[in-house]
Amino acid sequence: MAERVLVIGSGGREHALAWKLAQSPLIQQVLVAPGNAGTADCGKISNSGVSVSNHSILAQYCKDHNVGLVVVGPEVPLAAGMVDDLTAAGVPCFGPSAQAAQLEASKSFSKSFMDRHGIPTARWRSFTDPQEACCFIQGADFPALVVKASGLAAGKGVIVARDKDEACQAVQDIMKDKAFGSAGETVVVEELLEGEEVSCLCFSDGCTVAPMPPAQDHKRLLDGDQGPNTGGMGAYCPTPQVSEDMLQQIKESVLQKTVDGMREEGAPYVGVLYAGLMLTKQGPKVLEFNCRFGDPECQVLLPLLKSDLYEVLQDTMQGKLASSAPTWLDNSAAVTVVMASGGYPGDYKKGVEIAGLSQAREQGLLVFHAGTVLKEGRVLTSGGRVLTVTAVGPSLETALHSANQGVAAVGFTGAVFRRDIGHRAIAYLTRSRGLTYKDSGVDIAAGNRLVDAIKPLAKATSRSEQEGHLQFLDICAHSLRPSPIDTVYCGVNVDRIEPTRHANQEGFA
Ligand code: AMP
Ligand code: GLY
Repeated sequence: MAERVLVIGSGGREHALAWKLAQSPLIQQVLVAPGNAGTADCGKISNSGVSVSNHSILAQYCKDHNVGLVVVGPEVPLAAGMVDDLTAAGVPCFGPSAQAAQLEASKSFSKSFMDRHGIPTARWRSFTDPQEACCFIQGADFPALVVKASGLAAGKGVIVARDKDEACQAVQDIMKDKAFGSAGETVVVEELLEGEEVSCLCFSDGCTVAPMPPAQDHKRLLDGDQGPNTGGMGAYCPTPQVSEDMLQQIKESVLQKTVDGMREEGAPYVGVLYAGLMLTKQGPKVLEFNCRFGDPECQVLLPLLKSDLYEVLQDTMQGKLASSAPTWLDNSAAVTVVMASGGYPGDYKKGVEIAGLSQAREQGLLVFHAGTVLKEGRVLTSGGRVLTVTAVGPSLETALHSANQGVAAVGFTGAVFRRDIGHRAIAYLTRSRGLTYKDSGVDIAAGNRLVDAIKPLAKATSRSEQEGHLQFLDICAHSLRPSPIDTVYCGVNVDRIEPTRHANQEGFA
């Protein structure tokens, strides 16, 4: 009998998980709790109102509703022992145990663990006394400029200081002023690493690791990696900067060593393991571990997964990865661009109507919802990161074109997004091919000029749809076909612009 699965979470990552699981013929229904507008009612996918904080209620709900598998998206329920509690109650649940999830939930645990097992990482010390931390910063024989709250702080508990005084101020903010609450009772002070950051994830069944293609997130809010750190503003996969040899090295010296170490320490790691790495001159070094899919990395990884995700999760939980590794699309790349509310990562408005979703779908794009709600048939913003637009193409450049095209089609007042997702890969490819950006098919400056010039038109196009029928089931019945980039220029389908609507100027960021 086909299964019913329950995905826990409400972000773009969870929408992507539900979308991919729904493609499995072995799955009859995908419930998402709490979910968002994108998972509200879309073919096999619907939202569930079950409380996710009380694990006994959740276990009973799963039994009552014949849920055969629970897939946990975010780190907080993993660290709170959701997998342990559901498994103990007889409900199969994908993800690491609370003990194994310490790799993410406690930076001081993960740093000591890496030292114990010779896994390359920045030099560090942990402190519970702010004065000692500050003395260490002032006297260290390496740039001890990165200050981290040891506990979970929603990706915000890290300060990369410019100098020693700023680092000491960060210790003060975290420990005395409790900027991140109890997460900052212990701080980790770390050596500043230099290089390019990449995300290398794998499935781990406790013994065998099955690496995913490498991806790169863009943590800063603004183009050119400027502005404040965010949960992630866009990602692409694979990263040409990570060669096959380097990925093999990362597999051996980081992923496998970690999984072996956790098993040896009595906390076998079963689930998705995410290593955030800095590619330094001395080789890849671990910045952090996450015990789950990344968001937005998940939105570029799953569209490239050829295997049935449900089968991969089952193989992972049953220790079968050695005999059945997941397979990935060859000669394809995926790009996702996050659209966030104006003001994010600070305060932002909610309840802003989103238009253009069905247009993006018509362009062959995937729109994964995050902070969205459905109200009387309309899709409104309800969070900081609102949605991500993913494109898959035969090359990074084509995927990039298509993703930008989708972002121009989707719109809401005040939307903030980056236009340079993938810029490091494009620079790398351009350098390694000895080409200019223009030769490689990406005329970024011209593209940006055109997008600026036709923004009002793009808005008008979206609005005409909004006045008619706003389609929000944008991923339903979606197929991954390459976008018709020849009729599209850097984000906007020129054929579709209606000049009579030109008057409308307000709006898009
Ligand atoms: P984390 O949550 O530990 O990954 O840190 C968040 C971000 O801070 C990372 O994505 C890096 O951009 C930056 N970061 C963390 N640790 C270091 C480090 N040791 N050196 C330089 N940058 C770092
Ligand atoms: N993309 C970074 C994270 O998911 O933590």
